[in-house]
Parts: sequence; C-alpha cells; structure tokens
Amino acid sequence: METLCLPADRESLALAADLLKAGRVVAFPTETVYGLGANALDDGAVRAIFAAKERPADNPLIVHVASPGQLPPLCHVTQEALKLMEAFWPGPLTLLLTKTERVPDVTTAGLPSVAVRCPSHPVANALLSACGLPIAAPSANRSGRPSPTTAAHVYEDMRGRIPLILDGGACSVGVESTVLDLTGKIPCVLRPGAVTAEEIARVAGQCSVASSVMRPLREGEAAPSPGMRHRHYAPKAKMTVLVGSDSRVIPDLIARYDAAKNAVILAHESALPLLGDRRAYSLGDTPEDGARLLFRRLREMDALGCEYILAQGWKAEGSALAVMNRMARAAAFDIITLE
Ligand code: TXA
Ligand code: MG
Repeated sequence: METLCLPADRESLALAADLLKAGRVVAFPTETVYGLGANALDDGAVRAIFAAKERPADNPLIVHVASPGQLPPLCHVTQEALKLMEAFWPGPLTLLLTKTERVPDVTTAGLPSVAVRCPSHPVANALLSACGLPIAAPSANRSGRPSPTTAAHVYEDMRGRIPLILDGGACSVGVESTVLDLTGKIPCVLRPGAVTAEEIARVAGQCSVASSVMRPLREGEAAPSPGMRHRHYAPKAKMTVLVGSDSRVIPDLIARYDAAKNAVILAHESALPLLGDRRAYSLGDTPEDGARLLFRRLREMDALGCEYILAQGWKAEGSALAVMNRMARAAAFDIITLE
C-alpha cells in the first residue's frame, strides 16, 4: 500500500474524512501525539488499527469526539464528567466512562468502560467535525516504539500500512493525554499527562493517582489500565535516569558517561555547557520541555545506535509526573535519586 503524507489543508482533510467514512485508517496530529484513527463504531475499521500497529487485542483504544454532544450514544455521561469536560476540553484529558452497547467490544477490548477525549489540535478538530464520526485512535507508533510527535515519525512506523498521514507539524505537548478513571468512587489518574491530578482535584474536589504510575507492576498485580501491562517506550539502548540538583547530578552523569562505552547524555538545556565535548542532547529546561522532546530524542537515540542513555530527569510530582512516567518506563525503572 502506498502511504501518502500530506500537509493538512482543506483538500487533504476532505480526503482523510472520506477515507474514515469508508472504514479506512488515517494518521492525524493531536496536541499530545499523532493518532492512528478509524471509525470507532466499525468493527473492521478498528481491527485495521490493531493490525497496522501490531497492537495486542487486549489493549483498548481512546474514542475521539468533536464535542461532548457526541458522547450520549456512546457512554453514560455523569455530572462529574460534565464538569471536567467544561474545564479541560478540548484538551489532553481522557475520561473513562461506562460504555453503551453502541461501542463495539474490539474498541474497548471487551471492557465495560470506554475512554473518550476531545483533542484541541485544530487539525484533529477539523477532521472529527468533517467526518462526523467518533474516531478510535491510539498513538500512531508501531507497538513498543515511542509515540510519534511528528508526521515523519509516523511515516517511519506506518509506511506501507495505512493510506494517509496528515502532517500538522510537531505536537506541542509531546506525551499522551492524562487518562482519568471516572468509574470508581474517586477520580483516579491511570496515566499522567499535561492535565495534572492537582488541576483535576481543583475541579472534581478530589483526585487520586494510581500507585503503579511510577513503579513496575508487582508479580500477579492487576493493571489498573491494560496499557500498563505492556512494555512501553523502550529504546534499544539501556537507559538510566538521574534526578536531583544540578550540582549532584552533573558530576555523576559525567562519571558514568566516561566509564561507559558508546554512551549518550540527555540533559537539561542549562547543563549542556557543563558537559564539555561529550555526546549530549537537550531535554529543554522545564518538565514541559522534557515532555515535548523526550519521544523525539528516544527515536534519535535508536537511530544513533548508542548503547547507554544517561538522562537527567525531574522530581516525579506535579507537572513533571507525565514526563517522568515515560522516562521511568523507557529506563525500565532504573531511576537514581541523588539527595
Ligand atoms: O494523547 C492520547 O491519548 C493519544 C492521542 C492520539 O489521543 N492516544 C493514546 O492512545 O495515547 P493509546 O492507545 O496509545 O493509549 C491509550 C491508553 C492505553 O494505555 C489503554 O490501555 C488505556 O488508554 N485505555 C483505553 N481505554 C481504556 C479503558 N476502557 N479502561 C482502561 N484503560 C483504557
Ligand atoms: Mg500508545
């Protein structure tokens, strides 16, 4: 199959909407990462997403809508959900709600809940409006690869597997949406993203965070979200993350780099001048910069063929929890905190 990669304009958007209506799979940009979309209500179309990604069938998809008005046939919308949508939609917050019979089991991997989200990216929004369908869309990477934050990343992974990629430039958030479970007593963050638990608590009154967000699942422990069971975001190289003040972390990074062979450093922008001529790339200065750049850097590291990635992280709290959750998984939880 030939894979077209077109700048998102009026014409390519119309083509994408037609393909979606015909049950085909199209990749499109969102503010978080690129998504691999198909009609969420069409069994065959959803199966084509799983096939293109080589995604295990037990990992459910997020259903994207143009507005909250599209939800009632798909799920039971609670008062709490309405308040959260009012506060954070369109934007990087996914809500887990009890599904109706309209949503096929392939989309939710047989679960009684459905994940729904209204993205804020203008191209995603235009596409959702143009096709008028709820669109199931996981991140547009092949399973086990970092989520794509540019159209070129999608092309790398999906070439020959899908008919069309809409190019809307680099994603501004860079990590996937916050996944919030609203089916229990207290709203619970299953996957941290740009919308933080603190922000959610300000609207919902309370919000917890799944304890497995920053640690591996214990043997036999049930995953709060199927996505957490699967290996994720792992670069080919071994990776270690160091967290602490610059004065503790930088000398440690340097010592480890110098003792290793074929290593690379991912450091905060402000630390780069302290690293001499060592091979080092920037993660920006803030946790938000780190979130925007991390997946791009992991792909670059794979292409470089380095054997050891030494990364400078942030304390895993507040707005840094999203990037640290991904760094922790990329490093198989090899995180060293230097007090
Ligand atoms: O930002 C995002 O959320 C991106 C863009 C494209 O919207 N999408 C995305 O989808 O990250 P995906 O499939 O890569 O991640 C969805 C996560 C998975 O960890 C999945 O297990 C979880 O959400 N999930 C989906 N439906 C669920 C459900 N009913 N119950 C529990 N977890 C669910
Ligand atoms: Mg994904």
